[in-house]
Amino acid sequence: MANTFVPGAIWPDNNGVHINAHGGGVLLHRGVYYWFGEHKTEGEAGNFAHVGVHVYSSNDLYNWTDEGIALSVVQDDPAHDIAAGCIIERPKVIYNAKTNKFVMWFHLELKSTGGYGSTSCSGIAISDTPAGPYQYVRSVQPNAGKWPMNVLDCHKEAVCPEVQETEFCGGGLPAHPDEINLLGKNFSAGQMARDMTLFVDDDGKAYHIYSSESNSTAHIAELTDDYQGHTGKYMRAFVARWMEAPAIFKRQGKYYWIASGCTGWAPNTARYSVANSIWGPWMEVGNPCVGEGADLTFGGQSTYVLPVAGKQDAFIFMADIWNPENAIDGRYVWLPIAFEEINTAPGIKIAWWDKWDLSFFDK
Ligand code: GAL
Repeated sequence: MANTFVPGAIWPDNNGVHINAHGGGVLLHRGVYYWFGEHKTEGEAGNFAHVGVHVYSSNDLYNWTDEGIALSVVQDDPAHDIAAGCIIERPKVIYNAKTNKFVMWFHLELKSTGGYGSTSCSGIAISDTPAGPYQYVRSVQPNAGKWPMNVLDCHKEAVCPEVQETEFCGGGLPAHPDEINLLGKNFSAGQMARDMTLFVDDDGKAYHIYSSESNSTAHIAELTDDYQGHTGKYMRAFVARWMEAPAIFKRQGKYYWIASGCTGWAPNTARYSVANSIWGPWMEVGNPCVGEGADLTFGGQSTYVLPVAGKQDAFIFMADIWNPENAIDGRYVWLPIAFEEINTAPGIKIAWWDKWDLSFFDK
């Protein structure tokens, strides 16, 4: 039995096999943690979804039991939204008390449209039990025909043909001016949604938070009461800041947002922001990581922040060290988050530990 976290190491499950749940997130349900993530396979081809979303369960966060494939890709219909060979990334699951369903959202790139960035939509799947199997519901490009709460007049102007036809891919700073109008470009069809997470607030309202507008700008979108669609109420955040890998959590009434820059599988410097409301305004503070390796997030990229049940102010930063040449060998970096005041504003600090355990939070 394991009783420590060893960031970056092979992490064996109950069968001694390295956990296969990349870009993951954790659901706590009736005292059991469920870790959902991308099931990767060997080689470069392993970055595509040949199997589906894998789920593991745990009572203590150190030891994980393989619960199998929560959502399977479709093997015999290449035209299916989640046909084998599509891209399924960053799956997150939340529980809806009104419908008694577990609702999974993920970034989906259809196989039929031609790979990464070609569809930039979200997939939704539901189940009656936490570990699944999940039934695929549909894919969606968020908020078609809706303007965000903080829309600018320039977004409502006609999009010039040059912008309409250009693929703005990946991205990085320096950012483009907002007038390029990547928002208006996707107004009718629905907005792009790539790296994503879900966040449920204390009042039960859930939000889908994703990199949109070719990754240049994040969107915060309210979900319907059943968590299976968007209400149409949404907001742009971090305009032209090119952020990916959002991980949101709430502590003592403050909202925290950890993200990465846009450098694909290669690590970059993480950033974090703080707000008094999920809708912002979000104040960008800086790099949450400290010490050696902090400039490259210790080789990882954020995926989730896990609140530890039964402990106060106990949050675990979860990141992936990607291995694009051999996707299945991606590693997990779980590190404890420490809190401190920076110029009277709440601040966070993430330091590297070769080995640590939950007693960190008892100090
Ligand atoms: C990363 C992103 C990953 C994956 C990868 C593909 O920036 O965070 O989830 O999409 O790019 O290159």
